[in-house]
Amino acid sequence: MSSKIQAVRGMNDLLPEALSSWQVIEQSIKQVVGQYSYKEIRTPIVESTSLFSRSIGEVTDIVQKEMYTFNDRNGDSLTLRPEGTASVVRAAIEHGLLHNQTQRLWYMGPMFRHERPQKGRYRQFYQFGLEAFGYSDIGIEFEQLLLLNRLWQVLGIREVITLELNTIGTSEERKRYNEALQNYFASHQASLTDSERERAKQNPLRLLDSKNESLQPLIANAPSLMDYLEPDTKQRFQSLCGLLDNIGVSYIINSRLVRGLDYYSHTVFEWTTTALGAQGTVCAGGRYDRLVEDCGGRPTPAFGFALGLERLVLLLETLQADAEDKQRDTDIAVVVDNGITIDRWMPIVERIRDELPRYKVDVNLSGGSFKSQFKRADKSGASYALVIGEDELNSGELTLEYLRSKKDKCRLSQQALIARLLDEIKDVK
Ligand code: HAM
Repeated sequence: MSSKIQAVRGMNDLLPEALSSWQVIEQSIKQVVGQYSYKEIRTPIVESTSLFSRSIGEVTDIVQKEMYTFNDRNGDSLTLRPEGTASVVRAAIEHGLLHNQTQRLWYMGPMFRHERPQKGRYRQFYQFGLEAFGYSDIGIEFEQLLLLNRLWQVLGIREVITLELNTIGTSEERKRYNEALQNYFASHQASLTDSERERAKQNPLRLLDSKNESLQPLIANAPSLMDYLEPDTKQRFQSLCGLLDNIGVSYIINSRLVRGLDYYSHTVFEWTTTALGAQGTVCAGGRYDRLVEDCGGRPTPAFGFALGLERLVLLLETLQADAEDKQRDTDIAVVVDNGITIDRWMPIVERIRDELPRYKVDVNLSGGSFKSQFKRADKSGASYALVIGEDELNSGELTLEYLRSKKDKCRLSQQALIARLLDEIKDVK
């Protein structure tokens, strides 16, 4: 038999069972963007490499380390799109969508980044994004944040995600700030690794969102961008915050939020959650008034964001599992022969808790006959009774009785019982 060919690492099949939550999310997204009159755009998955290096920035993780780039048969350098914004900008310029008109566009589709895969981070992942062109005022920023706030409400996740906002000013303000940062990091060379030193010279802003623990004290004491912003810029940001305050959308200001792509100016934002571990940014975006011009179009203000669909799916699934867990009081009721002392049976129950953390295990500490213990087990709503008697202890086994189904009771080794319950966790009601 030939060896099996497997999917590429970090690129996932989405099987029918998993797709139902994707479909719910996609439908909710389409409903909400429809309410705000955004129109769909679809662009190719492959673009000229220069589109991304020019727009995202040469000195960014995406361009330096994460792009899937290859030469095609003509020798042209092509790249699987790592994000959607640059492609939408290219298409909008190419098809004259920005001539004397505003545009509000949305897209959904796979993106590709060669990152180290982990929960919530993949090499092929799906983004849904909005890009609006021709709007220089904060009105469009307010609108898109409201749209997202509405989407979270429709999906029932508003309570578990936080809006983080910042302003990174104009490119002139950032230039002055960059110089201050360069000087600051230059005077702390010894605390930096070689690549951080390089980054401090080329793109010091990027060091501010470094995850390196040992760098955090240095980052905390770095000059603050706020001190380099002109009053107009600060006023602009305060007005946006005021609009959000008035309408009751909560947020926090995170002055260290700089984003990992170079095209932003003024407002940047992320919606984050603590429910997903390390990859907690569900959605991110900001203003990018220079990008259209940098890609060969006429100067056009723009604002947009993208959200990671896998992260949204994971978040909804986590909340659902938590809700199901909360509804049940007990899954397994332990029934113990009266003659057996607690030092002999409790370690067994503790092992079950170690191995089956999602099950709620209730032990009977007040004695009683087998019959009365079973009665209590039944009343508790548990799906299983776990019987520990002399016989079981002597043979190193346990008896499992099904309290809510017609399945026959069975006697299993501890290991086999744990394996069976792990297998059945999906059915636990
Ligand atoms: P980004 O922050 O690179 O921004 O990505 C946006 C979102 O895509 C992230 O917040 C995350 O949810 C998801 N995402 C990114 N990388 C991965 C990955 N490897 N695996 C799973 N999900 C991921 C952009 O892409 C900008 N184009 C957003 C934008 C649009 N700004 C203006 N318009």
